[in-house]
Amino acid sequence: MKVLFMAGSSRKESLNKKLAHAASDLARCAGADVTFIDLADFPMPIYNGDLEDDSGLPENALALKKIFTEQDALFIATPEYNGSFPALLKNTLDWLSRSHYEGEPRMSAYTNKVVALAAASPGGFGGMRSLMALRLQMAHLNTLVISQQMALAKAGDAFDEEGSFKDDKKRAQLDALVKTLMATTRALAQDDTRA
Ligand code: FNR
Repeated sequence: MKVLFMAGSSRKESLNKKLAHAASDLARCAGADVTFIDLADFPMPIYNGDLEDDSGLPENALALKKIFTEQDALFIATPEYNGSFPALLKNTLDWLSRSHYEGEPRMSAYTNKVVALAAASPGGFGGMRSLMALRLQMAHLNTLVISQQMALAKAGDAFDEEGSFKDDKKRAQLDALVKTLMATTRALAQDDTRA
C-alpha cells in the first residue's frame, strides 16, 4: 500500500512537518510504502487561470499530481491559520485538481483516496478548526476522509531534538491513527476486488 505524507507548511521547523514525519515513520514500521513530500520542494504560483495554457500545468503541479495519483492513501498534517488551513495547502490542492491536458495521462489526484488528517499547533486546541475546514475540503475533492484524526495541542513542546514524541501517549495516538488509515485503505481495496 502506497501512502503519501505531507504537511500544509513549508516552514523549515514546521511542527506539522514533524507530525507528518513521525506518522510516516510509524507507517513504514507497519509495512506501508511511504512517500514524504515537503511543499517547500514544490513551489507553485498562486492559482490564476491565465497561468493555465496549452503547455499544461506548471511543472511542480504536474510532478506533484503524478505523485498523488500513484498513492492509495494520504496523510495530511495541517497548521491552523485564523481558524482554517493555510493558503499554501489550498493553493496546492487547487492546482492538483485541474484536469489533464493533451498529451498528459488522464488522472485524478484525489478520487477514491483514503485520507487521514492531523494538525499541530502551539495553541491549546491543536488546530481543531483547521481540521474541520480541511475535512470539508477533502470530502469535496471526492476523497474518503476517515473519522479519526489528531489535533496536537502545545505542539511546540511535543517533540525532542530528533523529532520524536516526548510523550509516549501522543506517539500511541498517532500510531492508532496511522493504523486505522492503513486498515481502512486495505479494507476498501478488498471491496474493490470483490466488485
Ligand atoms: C497562526 N497560528 C494559529 N494557531 C492556532 O492554533 N489557531 C489559529 O487560528 C492560528 N492562526 C494563525 C494565523 C497566522 C497567519 C499564523 C502565521 C499563525 C499559529 C500557528 O499554529 C503556528 O505558527 C504553527 O507553528 C504553524 O504551523 P507549522 O508551520 O509549525 O507547521
